[in-house]
Amino acid sequence: MELKHAKRLRGTLSVPGDKSISHRAVMFGAISKGKTEITNFLQGADCLSTISCFRKMGIEIENKKESVLVYGKGLHGLSAPTSELDAGNSGTTTRLISGILAGQNFSSRLSGDDSIQKRPMERILSPLAAMGANVTSCAGNGCAPLLFCPSKLHGIDWVSPVASAQVKSCILLAGLYADGVTSVLEPALSRNHTERMLFAFGAKVSTEGFRVSVLPSPDLMGQKVDVAGDISSAAYFIAAGLLVPDSELLIENVGINPTRDGMIKTVLAMGGNLKKLNERIVSGEPVCDLLVSSSRLSGTEIGGDLIPTLIDEIPILAILAAFADGTTVIKDAAELKVKESNRIETIAENLRRMGVFVEQTDDGMRIEGNPDGLHAADFDSFHDHRIAMSFAVAALALPDGCTMKHADCVNISYPDFYGSLYGLIDG
Ligand code: S3P
Repeated sequence: MELKHAKRLRGTLSVPGDKSISHRAVMFGAISKGKTEITNFLQGADCLSTISCFRKMGIEIENKKESVLVYGKGLHGLSAPTSELDAGNSGTTTRLISGILAGQNFSSRLSGDDSIQKRPMERILSPLAAMGANVTSCAGNGCAPLLFCPSKLHGIDWVSPVASAQVKSCILLAGLYADGVTSVLEPALSRNHTERMLFAFGAKVSTEGFRVSVLPSPDLMGQKVDVAGDISSAAYFIAAGLLVPDSELLIENVGINPTRDGMIKTVLAMGGNLKKLNERIVSGEPVCDLLVSSSRLSGTEIGGDLIPTLIDEIPILAILAAFADGTTVIKDAAELKVKESNRIETIAENLRRMGVFVEQTDDGMRIEGNPDGLHAADFDSFHDHRIAMSFAVAALALPDGCTMKHADCVNISYPDFYGSLYGLIDG
C-alpha cells in the first residue's frame, strides 16, 4: 500500500471504542444474568473473535450497528462448544477466556492464528494449575492450542512476575468459580478495566496497592456499558497532530484511565502541545477530549512503572522519538518481545529503513532522534496492527514515497484507520 505524506492536518474526530473494554463487556455480559447493552463497541477483528467464542458456547449476541446486545445466562450458563474456540489474533480473548473456561463443567479447546500459537501462555497456565485447573498446552510448548477439562478450582494468592492485565484478569475470572478468595499481586499496576467493570457487574472485587482480590461470585447482573474511545487508537492521531507541521486536531471521547495514560504523560515530557478538555466519567471510566497541535519534541526516558501504562503505545512513541531532538531510551519493556510481533525487532527494523539510528537492548531500545534527516522508506507491518499504524503516521511526516507491506492488519483494532487518518489531510 502507498502511504500518504501530509502538509498539514486539521479536524475533529473520535476514535473507535476501547479494545480492552469492548472484550470485557462481552465476556462479563455473557457470564452475567440478563441483558448487557454495549454502545461504541469496537468492531475490530479481535473483539469479533470474543463474540464468536461466546456464541459458540450458546450465548445469544446481537451485533447491531448502534449497539451490541449480550443475553447473558449467568456464571454457569455457558454450554460446551461443539468445535474449537478460535481467538484469532487476540491475546486478550485467549488469556481472559481461559480463566472462564477453567471454571466450566465441560471440556473445550481454544486456539488462534499463527501469532497466537507462538505467544506465551505459561504465564496463565501456572496460576490456573495452582488453582487446581485441568488445562494443558496441546503441543506441550506452553502455547495455544489449549485444552480445558473440568475440575474444582481453589482460591490462590498469586504473585505475578509480570505486570499483565491479561494474566491478572485470567486469574480473577477463574476466581469467580473458585472456593475461596483469589488474589493477584503485580510488580506494577497494569490496566484495571477488569476490576472496575467486574465490580459494576456485581462481583466482590477489592484493590489494595498492587494487589487485587475477588471472592467467589454471587450472580453477576447484566449492565449498560458505553465504551470510551480507545486511547491506544487515539495515540496515532496525537502523534500525527504533533509531527505534521501547522496541524491541530481535536480527538473527542478518549478514555484516560490512569493505568492507560502513560502516552499523554510522555508526550508532555517531550514538550508536546497536548491538552485534556472536558474531563468526565463514562461507564465508570475517566474520559476527555484531547486537543493536539504541531510541536518540536525532545527525547526522553521511558521505563519503570510507566511501562504498563503505555505498553501498546511504544511503537508510536518510537516514531515520536525518531522525530525528536536528542536521544530517547526505552527500558523495562521486555514484554514488547511477546506482543503481536516482537516489537523490539519490528520497530527497530522499520526505524532503520527510514534512516534512524537505533540500538536494540534486551528490554527496549535507544533511539537517536533525527528530525530533519529522515527519508522515505518501504515499511513492513509484519502483520502487527500497531506497527502498521505507527509507520503510516511516520509516513505523513516523511518525504513522499513511503509504502507499507501487509497494511490491512489494522482491521484487528481499527478497521477504518487509513480513512480516518487521511480524511484529516488539509491541503
Ligand atoms: C490488554 C493487556 C495488555 C495489552 C493488550 C490488551 C488487556 O497485554 O498489551 O493489548 O486488554 O488486558 P498484557 O496483559 O499482556 O500486558
